[in-house]
Amino acid sequence: MASIDYQSLIPNNVDLDNDRRLQRALEKWQPAFLDWWKDMGPEGYQAKDVYLRTAVSTEPGGWAVFDHVKMPDYRWGIFLADREKDRVIPGGDHAGKPVWQEVPGEHRNALRRIIVTQGDTEPASVEQQRLLAKTAPSLMDMRNLFQVNVEEGRHLWAMVYLLHAYFGRDGRDDAEELLARRSGDEDKPRILDAFNQPCSDWLTFFCFTMFTDRDGKYQLGALAESAFDPLSRTCRFMLTEEAHHLSVGESGIERVLRRAAELTKLDPNGDARNQGGIDLQTVQKWINYWFSYSIDLFGSEISSNSADYFSSGLKGRWREAADHSEHSAMNQFYQMPVVQNGKMGVEDIPLRNAMNEVLRQDYIADCQRVVKRWNRMLKKQDVDFQVSLPHNRFFRRQGIYAGQEFNPQGEPISDDEWNAKKNEWLPTDEDRAYVKSLMVPVTEPGKMAHWIAAPLRGINRQGPDFEYVRL
Ligand SMILES: [Fe+2]
Ligand SMILES: [Fe+2]
Repeated sequence: MASIDYQSLIPNNVDLDNDRRLQRALEKWQPAFLDWWKDMGPEGYQAKDVYLRTAVSTEPGGWAVFDHVKMPDYRWGIFLADREKDRVIPGGDHAGKPVWQEVPGEHRNALRRIIVTQGDTEPASVEQQRLLAKTAPSLMDMRNLFQVNVEEGRHLWAMVYLLHAYFGRDGRDDAEELLARRSGDEDKPRILDAFNQPCSDWLTFFCFTMFTDRDGKYQLGALAESAFDPLSRTCRFMLTEEAHHLSVGESGIERVLRRAAELTKLDPNGDARNQGGIDLQTVQKWINYWFSYSIDLFGSEISSNSADYFSSGLKGRWREAADHSEHSAMNQFYQMPVVQNGKMGVEDIPLRNAMNEVLRQDYIADCQRVVKRWNRMLKKQDVDFQVSLPHNRFFRRQGIYAGQEFNPQGEPISDDEWNAKKNEWLPTDEDRAYVKSLMVPVTEPGKMAHWIAAPLRGINRQGPDFEYVRL
């Protein structure tokens, strides 16, 4: 069951050959997807051989093969994690009952909305990143970008499969719409805000894969706990692929910080920009911006939708089945910091209504672990600088903290103070122009752009000089 049928037009492990109707519908969508890829996928390099991994099994360990492939020839397909025997609903009102193999009528609309929203982020990120290859700081980075892009394309396939297989005509319409919206487009934007932000420099790309893809990890984690078993199985396999995207972000920022530290020490005035690099403070500003945008994606702190999703079993908490022993979340409260007359207070919120915040806090703890690793490296580099995450109230545009300004420590501040300080905390136009000016392509195998340190290891045990993209 875990091995994948590569003979079919659409590689899959869902026995597509025995469901002609579904197969035909997906085979109709496939050329539309390829057209979208040609229009909105990476600009240039489509005819080049790229050292990509392709999923060949859903077994943990040894699930992928690496080979030089032209991106349009990538074998996008439909892969679900194996069915877990006797799996029960992890959380909510029906915890402990058998999971659903079909969509219950009363949850059809909510599930459809969840799947469409998740599906929309996948092509959106490809669109956001489509110009980046032209300024890749090394061949390996270019390869990593393409790897992330083809897998986001596969994640779109994952969601489109669910729409086609379980939502009939509506699902087919949704699948078409997923190829019609465009990141940043005024008339037909992508659904979520962070996925309409431009991603035009590599520091942004690393922040995006570190922070925004990590939001994806937690959303997928919550959906992996879904009572709707095909959704859970789909998300579990997506998480396997997602891990690489996060490591691209984490190690990318680590390399920028390492190089910033080296250049800071090299300069008589400790000014990395004077040495033609990105300075540590600028990296901090990018972190502030993308961390804030990414935590907005979890939804409002107090949310009746999140309560409904949890109680009906559509979503669980992070590792609901494995890490929690009490699965109803009833008669429990979350102490939510709230603004009361301009000051911070605390309100007891029924736990089910605070599920967005519970997931967000798990995400923040995950980010903190990475920041700690970066800071250990900075300490070893012997520079007097540590990076930090801004408070989760800082620079929010969604949720209960959106109507008020906060400093990076999370203290409420006046609009005047915000206006006086925001250029110290967030990227300015000058910062963006400066970072952009450093984005020059480096395409000789093993060579790096000046502003970034070499990676500590290559891909799939290949060396630094390997031809990750054959130009
Ligand atoms: Fe994804
Ligand atoms: Fe991703």
